[in-house]
Amino acid sequence: MPRIFLLPDQRYVEASDLETVLSASLRVGIPITNECRGNARCSTCRVLVLNGLGYCSPRSEKERALAEQLHFSDRVRLACQTTITGNVTMRRLILDAEDAGLTDQRKQATAHGLVGEERQIAILFVDVRNSTSFAESVPPFDVIHILRRFYHHMDKAVMDNGGHIACYTGDGLMALFGIESSECAPLQAVRTGLDMLHSVKRNIQPYVKRLFQCPFRIGVGAHFGEAVVGMVGGGLQERVTALGDAVNIASRIERANKQARTEFLVSEALLREIKGQVRVGKSLSVKLPGKTGKYALHEVVGIRTAHGKQRAGAGPPGLTRTSLATAPAGASGSRFRHAG
Ligand code: FES
Repeated sequence: MPRIFLLPDQRYVEASDLETVLSASLRVGIPITNECRGNARCSTCRVLVLNGLGYCSPRSEKERALAEQLHFSDRVRLACQTTITGNVTMRRLILDAEDAGLTDQRKQATAHGLVGEERQIAILFVDVRNSTSFAESVPPFDVIHILRRFYHHMDKAVMDNGGHIACYTGDGLMALFGIESSECAPLQAVRTGLDMLHSVKRNIQPYVKRLFQCPFRIGVGAHFGEAVVGMVGGGLQERVTALGDAVNIASRIERANKQARTEFLVSEALLREIKGQVRVGKSLSVKLPGKTGKYALHEVVGIRTAHGKQRAGAGPPGLTRTSLATAPAGASGSRFRHAG
């Protein structure tokens, strides 16, 4: 009887030419996700055929319709619609409930009606480190799948901390804090960066290592300064964005992580606003591309707790996540001053 070698489970499953890949796998206890119970309506049972595509049955009419709608490559098949006539190797692509939820989960931008005004805001950039070599070592379909998972967690970190996503950059994003009020923006940005790092370590790195045995790292950079903030795009695409020197500086700070061998750097201007509330690692003075003079940058490694202990992702002294929304500005009176 033909066999399926199923990854990442590394199990052999025998299947007659009358039994679908989904049925055969479930029969031996391999939990292929099947939200629509095998009716070719959800795509959560999708598998990638690594070997033996010629032994797979042609797509059924229902599978063909779904594959066209979702732009599946020939090698991506619905396990619930596929039978085999010879040995094949397949990899499950939806591994857990979170993946399944992502297949039909969409978010929408929030409108604010800003037509363009100067604001003191915190700007945060996050980027996948060595994304080119990562993309070369992982099949294109999987790169997109992992990036979807990555963006899901980055979006959540931004939203949880009261920020707004201004744009996506292929393998990263820019987030803004302080659109409504500048008061807590620097601390919100720092909390977001720490949450992002924590989330990648917990939700992305083990997943990528398990499937592809390669690393997945990010860099985060944040700055606090004056920028022109407004809404761009139309309809559901409308979103808040920011322009100005502060945005360029934040982007370059994120890139400075590579040279500094750090994960999260912030500017002197941002740190000044929240001094005493965060735990700082190394400090350095660097030249940023396209800027004159040197900039003092600081590595953020955690938030100080109310009892003087320090831990990543914790709240500042006397503040909880809820109280942040109405808390007064940081102790330091001065707002943006050029860090260079
Ligand atoms: S289980 Fe829904 S498409 Fe296969």
